[in-house]
Amino acid sequence: MKTVAVVGSQWGDEGKGKIVDLLAADADVVVRFQGGNNAAHTLVVDGEKFILRLVPAGALHDGKTCVIGNGAVVDPIALIEEVDSLRSRNRMRADDALKLSYDAHLVMPYHRAIDRAREARLGKRAIGTTGFGIGPAYEDKMARIGLRFDDLENFAAFTEKLEYNIREKNLYLRAVLKAKPVSAAEIIAKMKIARTRLRRYLCDTSIYLADAIAAGKRILFEGAHGVMLDIDHGTYPYVTSSNCGASAVFGGAGIAPGRLDGVLGISKAYTTRVGGGPFPTEIKGRLGDALRAEGDEFGSATGRPRRIGWFDAVLVRHAARLNGMWGLALTKLDVLTGIDPVKICVGYEIRGKSFAEIPANRRMLDKVKPVYEELPGWSDDISDVRALADLPEAARRYLERIEAATGVPLAMVGVGAAREATIVLRNPFAD
Ligand code: GDP
Ligand code: IMO
Ligand code: MG
Repeated sequence: MKTVAVVGSQWGDEGKGKIVDLLAADADVVVRFQGGNNAAHTLVVDGEKFILRLVPAGALHDGKTCVIGNGAVVDPIALIEEVDSLRSRNRMRADDALKLSYDAHLVMPYHRAIDRAREARLGKRAIGTTGFGIGPAYEDKMARIGLRFDDLENFAAFTEKLEYNIREKNLYLRAVLKAKPVSAAEIIAKMKIARTRLRRYLCDTSIYLADAIAAGKRILFEGAHGVMLDIDHGTYPYVTSSNCGASAVFGGAGIAPGRLDGVLGISKAYTTRVGGGPFPTEIKGRLGDALRAEGDEFGSATGRPRRIGWFDAVLVRHAARLNGMWGLALTKLDVLTGIDPVKICVGYEIRGKSFAEIPANRRMLDKVKPVYEELPGWSDDISDVRALADLPEAARRYLERIEAATGVPLAMVGVGAAREATIVLRNPFAD
């Protein structure tokens, strides 16, 4: 395969960044096609930790092109900070290492202010957003009042549209949300900086990608979040405001259906989620706390503790059906070492009735009782294992059960946070 999408198949934080970084060694181009800096992808390379929010996870390899497509929403100040931080660590030094779509929408300070004020007012019904303004930015895109990088070209016209938006948003912030208004002068000054700093990266990324595909380059499309956070197919309203699956590649990167050769799903060996919403296999109490500590399950975007649960094959089957997965990369198997027994949810029960799929009425997810299969755990440290045959037998049986229960063949298994701590069974670029 030459063009591969990497898609989260749970509620985000599956380890997409690590797997994209690993595969990027064999790729020419790495593309973000949706989401914004609500994403946080952690990479551990040569003992150094990097957290990427907007910049695609090809950035740590020299000579790769990173593309931010039209489907992403970009906080320009956050992007500048990220690029500066990478440059200070001697990465992404060349201007042509990053291509930014003219058509990507800008996330503005008023989007953040609205996001935060709404969440505060929702109280118990809050979604638990990252507070980075992502939902309000996508709302403006759909309402056709959003500002794009393209608008920055004519700064006078840009300022006029911006001032109009700020007047409208300040009325809303004050009168409806009872929140502080934003300062037009401050935002305009920031956007001036954004224009100066980011213009050099602007590009018709759809044409760039069409040319790269025609030239036979290898391209990775790096999904953000996960299918259960997808605006259509996730646990609405406890979702993010974009489509997070492979179908979003076409709209969000501007490539034709048929140009995507395959999809690699990413899943943890257990499940986590940050923020509110249903979570059938959630483990509360001491075991959940122990797994959170062992897996270092604290959100890299906001530092919030992640909720922890058993592997839920129903959810991953849902993600696999929607994405047509060529393979599954299962990360963080090492975190389950020492847990005995380990459990896999293979179906749900509602009032004594069994279900193999997520109930069509997603609200029922709050009511389902997971049906578990229990398997023996293992206690040997597996973090140095690099071949399947060297895993303890119980770990192998756990993986086999996950393959059977999800219907997706395993392609990789993560046994540590470092790039090389991965058992590679099949490389999509070698297929
Ligand atoms: P992403 O948003 O999907 O890229 O995932 P995050 O980076 O937010 O969260 C995954 C976390 O798990 C990060 O801290 C990674 O460094 C770490 N990680 C990824 N794969 C593995 C693995 O196989 N084992 C362990 N122990 N940590 C991993
Ligand atoms: P990565 O790419 C985990 C969650 C938030 C919240 C909901 C809506 O690192 O996997 P938003 O700010 O997007 O409006 O918040 O979505 N969320 C994520 N959870 N990983 C992510 O990204 C997430 N991106 C959004 O916690 O519940
Ligand atoms: Mg993350």
